[in-house]
Parts: sequence; structure tokens; C-alpha cells
Amino acid sequence: MSTNKVVFEIYRYDPESDQPPSYDEFDVDLDNCGPMVLDGLLKIKDEQDGTLTLRRSCREGVCGSCAMNIGGTNTLACTQDIKSVARNGRLKITPLPHQEVVKDLVPDLTHFYAQYESIQPWMKSDTPPAEGRERLQSKEDREALDGHYECILCACCSTSCPSYWWNSDRFLGPAILLAAHRWIVDSRDEGEGDRLDQLEDPFRLYRCHTIMNCTSACPKGLNPAKAIADIKKRLVMRQL
Ligand code: SF4
Ligand code: F3S
Ligand code: FES
Repeated sequence: MSTNKVVFEIYRYDPESDQPPSYDEFDVDLDNCGPMVLDGLLKIKDEQDGTLTLRRSCREGVCGSCAMNIGGTNTLACTQDIKSVARNGRLKITPLPHQEVVKDLVPDLTHFYAQYESIQPWMKSDTPPAEGRERLQSKEDREALDGHYECILCACCSTSCPSYWWNSDRFLGPAILLAAHRWIVDSRDEGEGDRLDQLEDPFRLYRCHTIMNCTSACPKGLNPAKAIADIKKRLVMRQL
């Protein structure tokens, strides 16, 4: 083993065994490993412990499936380089916080996806498009979608929000509220009133207390807190 090594300290849990959760340690030789945390995890899985369980697909930061807590921060394993996050030659990795664990580093996001479905993430319009034409937008209308469409639903933001930790049964959380805002600001969508009605609720929306962890955590540089603030503002404005 070279001296250029990092000890990966990895959360392990198998709900089908009677063992409580624990941490396993694995040495990773950085001279023989790709630079990203996902490279290290896959090297461990390939060479040291094939039972290590994690999700990943694109390894390009676009599918969102490799989200986990790395060195205390929710982020994507495939875009987080090992050297910048390891401390004193060690790196602790756990699943996204406050979710049920399917196994090891895999959180159960069933509820998160059900919440996504609940905001009806599709275009609502009673106006048919001009015959044979797509629904056109001005350049400015299209730009209103910037900061929204890039979301990969990785759940790093929602699982870093204390309000979501304690109230995720009823609070939608920042990822889902950002998705709701994406349709509210879409010039082609005619469902703003219904969408705001659905969100106007002490838990679904107003459990956001502007803690801002969501915006700090987003590995895509998005700002869910700003979107949530705009939803709250629209609810105030429609009372005037
Ligand atoms: Fe992930 Fe960012 Fe989307 Fe939240 S807003 S789900 S952190 S990409
Ligand atoms: Fe949570 Fe972000 Fe609001 S961290 S409380 S959703 S500003
Ligand atoms: Fe797709 Fe990391 S593997 S975002």
C-alpha cells in the first residue's frame, strides 16, 4: 500500500440481518484509483467487499442517484473528489440523513418521489397549441426556467433541511418546492392558481423557516430557498 492512501469509513446496514448498523474501514490507494469518491467506492466494491451497496448510474453528476453524505456534507459521490474532502487521511461516508436505509449507502426515497408526484410535475393547459406548432416561449420566459430544469432530484437539499428531517411526512421540502416553482413560473402552464392553492398549507410550504441549508447543499448550484421565497411572495401578492 502506498502512503498516498485514504481510509474510507463507510456506514453498513442490512435490514435483513439482525446486526445493528456499523462502520467498516477500507484502505484506498489513491495512486491506483480514480479521483472521485465514487471511484473509491467502486474500487472497494470490486476489490475488497462485493457486498457494499450503493446507487450510481451516470457518473457525470446528471442522474442524481449517487447522492450520499460525504465527510459531513450531502453531495454526489461521482463529482466529489476524494482529496479535497478527506481529513487526516480519513473519509466518513453515510447515506443521506434522516431517510430509511434500504442497505448500506442506499436511502429509501419512495416518499420523496411520492411527494414529487403530488405536485403534478407536468404542464397544465386548457389552451391547445396552434395547429401543428409547439408552444412557443419568448427568450425571457424561457430564462425563467433557469435554475429549475437543472435539478436532478438527488435529494441532497431536502435531506439537509432540519425542517424536512422532523416533518417530512407533511412538509414537501426544498427539492419538491423547487419543482413546484418550476411549473408556476413556466409561461406555458395555466395551473398557477391551483398549484398555489395546493401549496398554501402550514406544513406543505410553511414548514420552511428559511434555514438555507438546502441552497448550501445543492451540488448543482441551485437555489431552492429563493424559489420557496417566491412561492410565499406570490401567495401574499394574490391576497392584495
Ligand atoms: Fe439535488 Fe439541487 Fe435538485 Fe435539491 S435542488 S434535488 S440538491 S439538484
Ligand atoms: Fe429548509 Fe431550505 Fe427552508 S433548508 S427551512 S427548505 S430555506
Ligand atoms: Fe449519476 Fe452520480 S452517478 S449523479
